[in-house]
Amino acid sequence: NQYEKGVKQLVDNGLHKVPKKYILPPSERPTINNEDSNVAKQKLELPIIDFSDLNGPNRPQVLQSLANACELYGFFQVVNHGITEDVINNMMDVSGRFFDLPIEERGKYMTSDMRAVVRYGTSFSQTKDKVFCWRDFLKLLCHPLPNYLPHWPDSPVDFRKMAATYAEETKNLFLRIMEAILESLGIIEDNQEENDNNILKELEDGSQLMAVNFYPPCPQPDLTLGMPPHSDYGFLTLLLQDEVEGLQIQYQGKWFMVQPINNAFVVNVGDHLEIFSNGKYKSVLHRVLVNSCKRRRSVASLHSVSFNSTVKPSPKLIDKTNPKRYADTDFETFLAYISTNETKTKSFLESRR
Ligand code: SIN
Ligand code: FE2
Repeated sequence: NQYEKGVKQLVDNGLHKVPKKYILPPSERPTINNEDSNVAKQKLELPIIDFSDLNGPNRPQVLQSLANACELYGFFQVVNHGITEDVINNMMDVSGRFFDLPIEERGKYMTSDMRAVVRYGTSFSQTKDKVFCWRDFLKLLCHPLPNYLPHWPDSPVDFRKMAATYAEETKNLFLRIMEAILESLGIIEDNQEENDNNILKELEDGSQLMAVNFYPPCPQPDLTLGMPPHSDYGFLTLLLQDEVEGLQIQYQGKWFMVQPINNAFVVNVGDHLEIFSNGKYKSVLHRVLVNSCKRRRSVASLHSVSFNSTVKPSPKLIDKTNPKRYADTDFETFLAYISTNETKTKSFLESRR
């Protein structure tokens, strides 16, 4: 049917009202927690981590603000991270051009197989979602890259090159951020340790999924969402957003807009880091609002251990006063649980407590 080709196609064909398929029940609409419009407009000043400071004399302070950010918000922004403006601009640009391709070309990658190397789609799942959200996406498995790259879209012609460079650089940045986060948790890895005790090594060989998101302008943005409230499953998500705001995070029961910063990454704690940190760092609910005048784009890069691994609380964070708070969780069981509804990750976590 017409909705399965996605929202961009609907909007491209001209649309003045949001079709029923996208209309949320009143209690789930974005305006519900925002009756006090002053609160709604309030920006949350997320901690900004200057990555260039990490290897200088200020390292202890940077680690401290990382720890605070992860405990308090589950979110922070990273600047001066070393990924060049060119790499970032190329990724945004080539993703934009991918979504500009005719729907027949994009549609070649439509599949309901959640494990597909390449998956183009709309909402979360065209086959399962009761109410659709106002978002089209392209998801790519990224690591190990040589296995996946030959399956990635070859149109636009520079897509593979730009996206591969971006994927590799975000993977490296993820590992550097994780190294700092482990240190902030008081975990210093010993290179001599067995592999299954060395989480950094596991993450190096781990999974990476890139989701390129496209949110076209929406004629009635108060009736729908670009993405419903959810947490991310992995250790960390590195998000690149364009200059259009839309991402909101939940903080003390209220929704706050994350202010776009040019060339910065929005980084958030995922469910697997919540488990690994034995609950010290928490994954946080976030959602995406759409607006009536501007399309919005983002690229989310989700990182974790490999799909056939198990995530468990670090033994180094368990003692008499801090008992183990989560059951060991193999990634497969986890994926099976969320396969009916990708926004359920937080409730899965509750079930592992
Ligand atoms: C996401 O939650 O993965 C995407 C957020 C965004 O588009 O800003
Ligand atoms: Fe997310």
